[in-house]
Amino acid sequence: MPIVNFRKTDFLPAQEQGSALQKKLVITVDGPAASGKGTLAKKLAERLGYAYLDTGALYRAVAMATLEIGGDPNYFQDVQPALDIIKRNLTPELLASAALRTPEVSDAASKVAAIPEVRQALLDYQREFAENPPGLVGGAVLDGRDIGTVVCPDADIKFFITASVEERAKRRYTELSERHDDVTFERVLGDLKARDLRDATRAVAPTLAAEDAYILDTTGLNPSETLEEAIAVIRSRFLSETNDNALAAAKPPAPAQKTAL
Ligand code: DC
Repeated sequence: MPIVNFRKTDFLPAQEQGSALQKKLVITVDGPAASGKGTLAKKLAERLGYAYLDTGALYRAVAMATLEIGGDPNYFQDVQPALDIIKRNLTPELLASAALRTPEVSDAASKVAAIPEVRQALLDYQREFAENPPGLVGGAVLDGRDIGTVVCPDADIKFFITASVEERAKRRYTELSERHDDVTFERVLGDLKARDLRDATRAVAPTLAAEDAYILDTTGLNPSETLEEAIAVIRSRFLSETNDNALAAAKPPAPAQKTAL
């Protein structure tokens, strides 16, 4: 698994940036809860003019609908009717809804996400999004847990975002305490640890860095710094590809084989 050491010399000069980023890419951003992957993926999509899909919101939407109909998110027979409703009503508005972000829905989402039938049912939607992103954009950024490993194993660039669990709990606590009075840091930390464990140890598509993912530790980095690191990775990747191609093109042709007369 490559760990990237960022070097300033990897950055492309400004005049080359446009052409390097002209290629329409599928970019995957995986990582644990509150690692900063969603913020990074959204900002990358904005910067590149790409479509963005928060795949966690798909599981959250199914979880919320399950709770609304009084189902238990641990059992597929309870989740299935909610899944059917959500598959017919997947809108950008629903996926961006604040109602999907409550602690109850977060907990239920990690339970429905452990059910193989639910994952399978959401797979086609995610792959279709990556292959034919909506709008006139061309490229796509998807964030989640298994995007680089299962949903888009052939993606052009894969990131795996990490941060210490304490740092992630601090971020999530700050975000939640703006909207809810009854939230405590200890509860947020405990919930995150439980979700991490469930997401990382489930039998199907656990949270995992792809072999070819760039690992980006965002502990101590703010969102803009994280974005710049990721852009630097994309540029350096294209720089080395460009160099490889240029080298290949510059190579003299192999000498013709001498054949015996
Ligand atoms: O990224 P998030 O916290 O919004 O994700 C909500 C839940 O969905 C989380 O517990 C893990 C799960 N999930 C998943 O299993 N696979 C994905 N591609 C995205 C999210």
